Amino acid sequence: MIMVTGAAGALGTLTADRLAARADTVLGTRDPGRLQAGRAVRRIDFDEPATLADGFAGVEVLVLVSAGYGEDDTVIARHGAALDAAERAGVGHVVYTSLTADGDHLPYALAHRWTERRLRCGSTGWTILRNGLYAELLGALAAPSAEGRITAPLGDGRLAAVARADLAEVAAHVAQHPGAHAGRVYELVGEQAIGGADLARAHGPHVTYEPQTLAQARAHAAASGAEPFQTPMLVGTCSAIAAGFLDRTGGDLRRLLGRAPRCPLTAALAGS
Ligand SMILES: NC(=O)c1ccc[n+]([C@@H]2O[C@H](COP(=O)([O-])OP(=O)(O)OC[C@H]3O[C@@H](n4cnc5c(N)ncnc54)[C@H](OP(=O)(O)O)[C@@H]3O)[C@@H](O)[C@H]2O)c1
Repeated sequence: MIMVTGAAGALGTLTADRLAARADTVLGTRDPGRLQAGRAVRRIDFDEPATLADGFAGVEVLVLVSAGYGEDDTVIARHGAALDAAERAGVGHVVYTSLTADGDHLPYALAHRWTERRLRCGSTGWTILRNGLYAELLGALAAPSAEGRITAPLGDGRLAAVARADLAEVAAHVAQHPGAHAGRVYELVGEQAIGGADLARAHGPHVTYEPQTLAQARAHAAASGAEPFQTPMLVGTCSAIAAGFLDRTGGDLRRLLGRAPRCPLTAALAGS
């Protein structure tokens, strides 16, 4: 049996869809009522470890979609509870959706690295999918205003962005062939790095790129009603892109997909 956690989230939904033809797929989510009727669903909430003991019973391969929205201690507690329970339930293999190595400057990298270390020290088999940043995320961060201005503080930096659907396809593929990918760490970054000027051009001649400073973006995010942990996430992501830490491309994605990755500009525009 394969379980996909976070099945109501964007990545989890796409991954579960890729596995829909398999009768042995079970979806894990905090709120089963949000998922389509007819699919096998279990309530899984990493913040409520009591849901995990029964929830992971009989699971052979667990696609553990990171539950990364929160302070480090919150996320570490979630992932720790999930892996403790997976081991107790006898799960054979965990496919973890991590963060690209070039993301080590990002404010949310620490919880991913903690989880990777926990997996390596644990008793299940594992595959670590070090996901690059989503093209859709970049598209949302750098969405044009009503006046057609993109102001995200990306400077001249670019991101080796990845379409979320490609990452889901890889997760579903690895989950179905765990033995072939056991103990492997994949760097799933894109093959094309894109930035604010590229996005403006892709939107059309009515859109301009006029990057703010990080300070302006921080003030704007803080005033927007974001949770306290969200502002450093947002600003840190833009800062790492602007400083050129996230523009390195790679070939693992193509190798695992068996084809060229989706166009990141198209995915970014769909996410804006
Ligand atoms: N690579 C990137 O660019 C990037 C960008 C943003 C986030 N991420 C990371 O990748 C993950 C998946 O991204 P996404 O786009 O699918 O995000 P999303 O649509 O916002 O979904 C958030 C996910 O977190 C899960 N979750 C939250 N709290 C949980 C808990 N207590 N127990 C179990 N699951 C919990 C949700 O599961 P349910 O709602 O189904 O319970 C859902 O799958 C995120 O959670 C984050 O860690 C990566």
